[in-house]
Order: sequence, then C-alpha cells, then structure tokens
Amino acid sequence: MVPDSTTSIPAAPPTASRDESGRVARSNDAVITAIRAHHGQLAEQLRAHVDAAVNAARSGAYGGERDALVDWCRSELLPHASAEEQALYRPAANLEPTRLLIAAMIAEHRALERLVNDLAFASDSAQVSGQAVATQALFAVHLGKENDLLLPALDQAGVNLSAVLHGMHEILGGPSEDPKPATGGADRINVSPAGDPHSDMLTIGAAGAWSDWRSIVAPRDDGPDVAVLHESAELKVVLVALAAGQALPAHPGPAASFHILSGTGAVVIDEVAHPVSAGATVIAASGTRRSVRAASALVFLGNLGEPAAEEGPH
Ligand SMILES: [Fe+2]
Ligand SMILES: [Fe+2]
Repeated sequence: MVPDSTTSIPAAPPTASRDESGRVARSNDAVITAIRAHHGQLAEQLRAHVDAAVNAARSGAYGGERDALVDWCRSELLPHASAEEQALYRPAANLEPTRLLIAAMIAEHRALERLVNDLAFASDSAQVSGQAVATQALFAVHLGKENDLLLPALDQAGVNLSAVLHGMHEILGGPSEDPKPATGGADRINVSPAGDPHSDMLTIGAAGAWSDWRSIVAPRDDGPDVAVLHESAELKVVLVALAAGQALPAHPGPAASFHILSGTGAVVIDEVAHPVSAGATVIAASGTRRSVRAASALVFLGNLGEPAAEEGPH
C-alpha cells in the first residue's frame, strides 16, 4: 500500500535495483512516490506560469506570459498527459475498478488540451486570466485523482508500475534511468535527435494514435478549435476545426500539408485561394504565407515540418 499524497512530497527513495535484463526496477511505492513528486513539480511550475500570466493580464501586457504558459503546457504538461495515456492508463482501462475513472481522466486530458489551445488564442486580459486559472484548477483536480485514486488502485490490483513505465521520465520526473534507450519494448523508441536538449527522452514509438478525429475537435462559434496531436523538432501535427466564416490568420511557415477532413473553404497560399472540400490536400512550400478559411464548418489535419520556423498562432 502507498501513503496518501501530501502537498509536500519527498523525493523518491533510492530503492532502485536492476532486473534480470539489466533494466532499473523499483517497487510500486518508490514509483508512486516519484510520480507524485513529479506531479508536485508540474503543479508548482504551472502555478508560477499562471500567476505570471494573470499578473501580466492585469497590466494589459499579457502576450509574453500567455505565450510562455502555452509553451510550457505544450512542452511539459501535455506530453506528460500523452505519455501516461500510452503507459499508465492502458492497464487501468482494462481493470474493472478503474475503467470508468480512466474514461473520465482521458476526457479531462482532452479538456486540458482545449483550455491550452483556447489560451493560445486568448486576445484580451479577461480571457487570458480565465483560461489560465481554469487550466490550473482542472489540472489540480486531475492530479488529485491520479495521486489518490488511480495510483493506489493500480498498486492494489498488483500492476508492476516499474515495468509499465520503464523509466519514462515524462511521468516519473528526473533524468532517464536507463543507460541505453529502450529498444525491446513494443511501443517505445528513442526518437530524439542527437544534440537535442531532450536527447535522452524516451518517447512513444507510435507517438500517438487516435481512432476518430471527431472525438477531438469540433467547430465552435467562439473561435477555432485546435488540438496539437504531436510536436517534435521535426514534425508538428494539428487538428483544426473552424466554424463557417472563421479563418486562421495568414502567416509564413515551414513546408506544410493541409488535408481537409470535412467541410468546404479555401487554403490560401501567398494570396492565392485554393478552394477545398473534404478529401482535398494542399501542400504549402517552405516560406510561403498560408491561411485556411472555412465557407462551411471545416476540419483539417495540418502537418508542419520544422515547427520552430512557424510564425503562426499555434
Ligand atoms: Fe493525467
Ligand atoms: Fe499525471
């Protein structure tokens, strides 16, 4: 059994050992303590970003802090959520006592993604403050479920958390434990490039899998609905839903493709409008200015190479 989480979480005790394959193996207690500690770090970092964004919003000059908060969420919070869906939530989804809990927690992950995407488009002080505080509040409730319900339930069910997580430090926090990347696992490979500051990061081989885009985004009257499905140094994949009449602002960017999943409208490349409907694909060359306009409610999948070169809204 594991203790309940507290607001002050001690560092993981040094109880690591190596199993017969040489991998680091830790007791469930040690793994749960590490996860809770990492949750505490994420909550504290989010609090600092939200405080900064709210304070900046009071002065009206919120752009930098809003963007810093969005960047942090996309580089820390959402990858954490994605990694645990692939590893931690999988066994829990197959256990009767936690099946409904996992369904609710995955829905909370989607809600967090929406809040972050809305925050990226927030264009006045009230919106920035509201979205930022809502993100913090939802994450706090979500962490409580993971710390106090999910982790003890997995422990009680006898799930070997060390084997399930296998040193995934997006979830465990701290440096990668294994001297070599995991190559034996069916669903995990090291895909970070040499020289990347996160080159020791283990990511999911299938970096994400979604059975139906309709469960992720939907056209909304209050603005574009954007979900970042994947982001790495080489590739960014976004799902975007626009209501009729909405458009993404024109901006320059790297080579990109736009595949229209539903609706009608136009992909505009360097001022030339290319009419599109469901099934159409438009490829934008590197450096061109691009925007997407919806004539009727429109959803598209966008793939961007070299995401750092993007100067757009997401
Ligand atoms: Fe989560
Ligand atoms: Fe978590």
